Amino acid sequence: MSNFGLYEDRVKNFSWSIAEEELEYRQGNVLNIGWYCSDRICLKGKAEKTALIYEGFGGIRKVYSFNDIRLAGNTIGNFLRSIGIVNEDRVCLFMDRIPELYLSFLGVLKIGAIVQPLFSAFGEESLFVRLENAQTRAIITQSKHLSKVRKIIDKLPHLEFIIVADHNKSKKLENREMAFSLQESEPVEHLEIYPTKAETPSVLHYTSGTTGLPKGVKHVHYSLIAQYLTSKWVLDLQDDDIYWCTADPGWVTGTSYGIIGPWSLGITQCVLDSGFSAQAWYKFIQDNKITMWYSAPTAIRSLMRAGDEIVKEFNLSSLRHLASVGEPLNSEAVIWSMKVFGKPFHDTFWQTETGCIMITNFPGMRVKPGSMGRPFPGITGVVLDPKKYEPITETGKIGLIAFRPGWPSMMRGYWNNEEKYKNKFINGWYLSGDRSTIDNEGYFWFIGRDDDVINTGGHLVSPFEVESALLEHPAVAESAVVAKPDEINMEVVKAFITLKPGFTPGPDLELEIMNFVRKKLSSIAMPQAVEFMEKIPKTRSGKIMRRLLHAKEWGEEIGDISTLEND
Ligand code: PRX
Repeated sequence: MSNFGLYEDRVKNFSWSIAEEELEYRQGNVLNIGWYCSDRICLKGKAEKTALIYEGFGGIRKVYSFNDIRLAGNTIGNFLRSIGIVNEDRVCLFMDRIPELYLSFLGVLKIGAIVQPLFSAFGEESLFVRLENAQTRAIITQSKHLSKVRKIIDKLPHLEFIIVADHNKSKKLENREMAFSLQESEPVEHLEIYPTKAETPSVLHYTSGTTGLPKGVKHVHYSLIAQYLTSKWVLDLQDDDIYWCTADPGWVTGTSYGIIGPWSLGITQCVLDSGFSAQAWYKFIQDNKITMWYSAPTAIRSLMRAGDEIVKEFNLSSLRHLASVGEPLNSEAVIWSMKVFGKPFHDTFWQTETGCIMITNFPGMRVKPGSMGRPFPGITGVVLDPKKYEPITETGKIGLIAFRPGWPSMMRGYWNNEEKYKNKFINGWYLSGDRSTIDNEGYFWFIGRDDDVINTGGHLVSPFEVESALLEHPAVAESAVVAKPDEINMEVVKAFITLKPGFTPGPDLELEIMNFVRKKLSSIAMPQAVEFMEKIPKTRSGKIMRRLLHAKEWGEEIGDISTLEND
């Protein structure tokens, strides 16, 4: 067999209609992701098959069949409808990775409303800007996160319903708050599914750019076609697989491949919601006999650091296929995984905006450690000359990763931000905002982002958002935020700060400022390092020269500083 195995065959004979046929979808018909992920699987005779194995803190374990998730989706959908939620209303899911998060996802989609999943570790400011931007009508959350919602509720007139999924009856609920317990509700056998069509909005994920507030990436129900086929072909999901996607559904991997892809294929999937430790992760794989594992480079590097010996304490022989996403997967991590698990992690490159895997080491294709692989069949991926925006034909030359639009799960817009959406396209190409080279066999080699966005442990952080949060601290006069190299997370957030008169730099203030950002935004966006400066470097027109600070952190050439403001 060639270096590419099945891949080239699939490229040659590719059509998205392959997925449409397998899903028995005809253009123009009703297409509802919630229904496809539960009702249809039951109709296919898998009602009793396990859909979800959940493990939480303290060893709590819950198991749901496809019929259970169908009923739960119906019950939640019915409840939302009963309080007046209608199609295209935005319903935010603000929960830890408890089963209600996954089940609500189906329920919201079944009634044609739009799911807005948000990472439960977000602080009140991160939550506020996203709820305000989407004009969200309802939020489903847990008691432990209620205090964050209460802090911002007065500024959110559109947020009519605050639904608490685990309400303790002895506590008083406030205005707009209501309890909803799945366990205590009568299961709803028949729910009228809202007749969503291919282009009906489904999921709204927020992602950060260099400037401005986070953008709401709008997806539609037709995304299912791409998420289904990539799950089948790239994640190689097969009927008897036990699958574990380690991503939180607050981020796109956790929905495209932590809900929609696997469940539309009728696959059993596992969720572990008890934090990270090498021991706990290996035990989870061993106990559940996980066969397919989709994770991220930061986690893999943390496992590498935990060492090879610990791997031998567990029986991980069930593992059949491994994949990774979210940040550069360094060659050492791939080589290490070959050594300890006997198989490589297959890198996959994609984005919130693309909705599905775009570039990948396809199963069967020779993995080149350090390379992201080749475009998924049916995807036209190139690198563009950064000045002419034309494809570079020479191998090994750095260009901008771009795709020809038209795949089913491409975003349909940024919520209320047509201009930013338009700026993502040029000469008929969608610009990913990343840089890469392509080698003589068509493999992509990631170079870096083409903007100032920080990718810390696979999570994008906007320097602008952190700088804005910092400015709200009483001691901060000015701030500039850049990425700092980190062994495990690849990049972490670093803040350069000038202080207002009367404040003295020191470790106490540093900690206070870090904590301030953690509470406002999240632990991910919290600066891991703070450096106090006399003056922030700026251009003569007053723009912060992040490039200069970035170069200093990374020990790189500073480049042209002719626009730097002088004293
Ligand atoms: O910079 C690329 C990086 O993550 C960005 C997309 O982030 P997000 O929209 O949050 O989605 C992450 C999960 C799909 C990309 O623009 N990225 C993603 N995958 C890779 C990657 N960088 C290097 N290698 C990858 N495999």
